Amino acid sequence: MKMRAAVLEEFGEPLAVQEVELAEPRAGEVLVRLHACGVCHTDLYTASGADPSGYSPTVLGHEGAGVVEAVGPDVGSLAPGDHVVTLFSPQCRECVHCLDPRTNLCLAIREEQNKGHLPDGTTRISRDGEEIRSFMGCSTFAEYTVMPEIALAKVSPEAPFEHACLFACGLSTGLGAAINTAAVRPGSTCAVFGAGMVGLGAVAGCRLQGAERIICVDLSPQRLELARGQGATDLLEGGEGAVERILEMTGGFGADYTFEATGNVAVMRQAVEAARMGWGLCTVAGVAGRGETLDVVPRLLITGRRIAGSSFGGVKGRDQVPVLVDRYLAGEIDLDPFVTHRITLDEVNRGFELMEAQDGIRSVIEFS
Ligand SMILES: NC(=O)c1ccc[n+]([C@@H]2O[C@H](COP(=O)([O-])OP(=O)(O)OC[C@H]3O[C@@H](n4cnc5c(N)ncnc54)[C@H](O)[C@@H]3O)[C@@H](O)[C@H]2O)c1
Ligand SMILES: [Zn+2]
Ligand SMILES: [Zn+2]
Repeated sequence: MKMRAAVLEEFGEPLAVQEVELAEPRAGEVLVRLHACGVCHTDLYTASGADPSGYSPTVLGHEGAGVVEAVGPDVGSLAPGDHVVTLFSPQCRECVHCLDPRTNLCLAIREEQNKGHLPDGTTRISRDGEEIRSFMGCSTFAEYTVMPEIALAKVSPEAPFEHACLFACGLSTGLGAAINTAAVRPGSTCAVFGAGMVGLGAVAGCRLQGAERIICVDLSPQRLELARGQGATDLLEGGEGAVERILEMTGGFGADYTFEATGNVAVMRQAVEAARMGWGLCTVAGVAGRGETLDVVPRLLITGRRIAGSSFGGVKGRDQVPVLVDRYLAGEIDLDPFVTHRITLDEVNRGFELMEAQDGIRSVIEFS
């Protein structure tokens, strides 16, 4: 079939929205009609050419929500009409990692996904016979996508698509960092560095876990106000003195749990230093630049601090994204402030510009 999609042709150039060809779903695959898709830093990072593992041509986008249109052979868990959220982090429910509660890093399709292929090593998108690779296994800057069944979470049809798509990436990452990776205990003191989609999700996650005090650190006063709306009790301007301020605010000890959601290694170090001696846990969600390293004084670890990394918040997507969506529908998370711009597929490059200007949290592409 023919569809419109935003193709990354050349790194550093605007995406080119055009008609491409999409093949039928094969065994274990599902055709999804997209209704909404968030525009994320990871899309921009790849489009810019900064990601050394990036490739082109490819259809970007990975924060999709839509409806199953058709299923290929051997698909058991989804049927036409189901509402789904795309998962760049799949869940096969069979591999050694899926069977272990300690990780969400499914091993089933990693290698082919990293190469821009579907699990059978081929692609479904093409143009004049030339293959166009898929991005993060999703390619949701398009009217339709074909994805593996194991990379789609079936969610409540009650959830508006523009909110459901937020769960495909940053929001679940932040929520999961607090709920899964850190498993914040009720009554705790938390400090969240960064108040973008991930950090705001972490603030909300700390609140849902019953944290008593949530200190949010960011450079932007507007973003700190958004953090207050998600449950932050104390707002702090980021920068050099942030660790000292957090120590002062916590009787000299630091926070029980700290979260890093900026991608800046200097801030990661601050998040470690702001964690409490004895049991403080620093959860790193930000993605650092290639070759960058985290500088930590080992004494901080000997005296009981720990550091954990968190990919997609440790969320096992097919099991847990539907639960998170239900918690949102039950009124536990307010998502209205996160969708700051609604754009069309043709305006996808404006979504990048808004992000570069730090204008709002998420631009969401709405498909008519
Ligand atoms: N682990 C994962 O699975 C996963 C998933 C999605 C995104 N990420 C990563 O998480 C990070 C955050 O993503 P996002 O979409 O929220 O980004 P974002 O750019 O919207 O938010 C980052 C925030 O950090 C703030 N910040 C910058 N410097 C700071 C400082 N010195 N002190 C305090 N705050 C500072 C910025 O003002 C901004 O509000 C990125 O590195 C992204 O790549 C990771
Ligand atoms: Zn994303
Ligand atoms: Zn698996």
